Amino acid sequence: MDTTSKLYQDIENELLIPREKIAERVRTLGEQITQDYQDRNLVVVSILNGSVLFFADLIREIDLPLTIDFMQASSYGDSTRSSGFVHIKKDLDRSVEGKDILLVEDIVDSGRTLSYLKTMLKKRGASSIRIATLLDKPEGRQVDMEADYVGFIIPNAFVVGYGLDYSERYRNIPDIGILRPRVYQE
Ligand code: PRP
Repeated sequence: MDTTSKLYQDIENELLIPREKIAERVRTLGEQITQDYQDRNLVVVSILNGSVLFFADLIREIDLPLTIDFMQASSYGDSTRSSGFVHIKKDLDRSVEGKDILLVEDIVDSGRTLSYLKTMLKKRGASSIRIATLLDKPEGRQVDMEADYVGFIIPNAFVVGYGLDYSERYRNIPDIGILRPRVYQE
């Protein structure tokens, strides 16, 4: 997609993370994960929907036998504050017992979603649970939660693209940009 496309008119001119930088970082994360999971029972789990682009690129950079699975969670609350209660909209298809689980997220903000999922999968008997997130927004943190693999630490801005949405749109932008305030103030 060209940056002159109509979608780009809704994000700031200066991209937060251009596609080349994303690809380079994803490659490095894939190499690290490849080294760390030698001779393990790796299951890479995409937390839908935001992580799909990152997930698809990341697993192609992991040079190991692995399986994939998908999960969807939503945290209830009003639009600006989550309640801390996480609802599982789509559960995994297979058991995690004895497996080394790598949860893949697009962003860690309050940390609530991943904190909940980690506890849940531990109870189900996973051998290990780690988190790979493309973006980390430490200023949003409400609970103690750190990812094991972080693509980029970002400021407290409204970011979209490469899987991240505003009102379900902009996920297909190949770069990560800051949404222009006029879009959500309309
Ligand atoms: C986003 C993101 C994480 C969660 C992070 O999901 O993908 O799952 O919020 O926020 P937290 O750290 O405050 O819990 P969202 O519910 O927006 O769904 P989406 O992935 O379909 O966009």
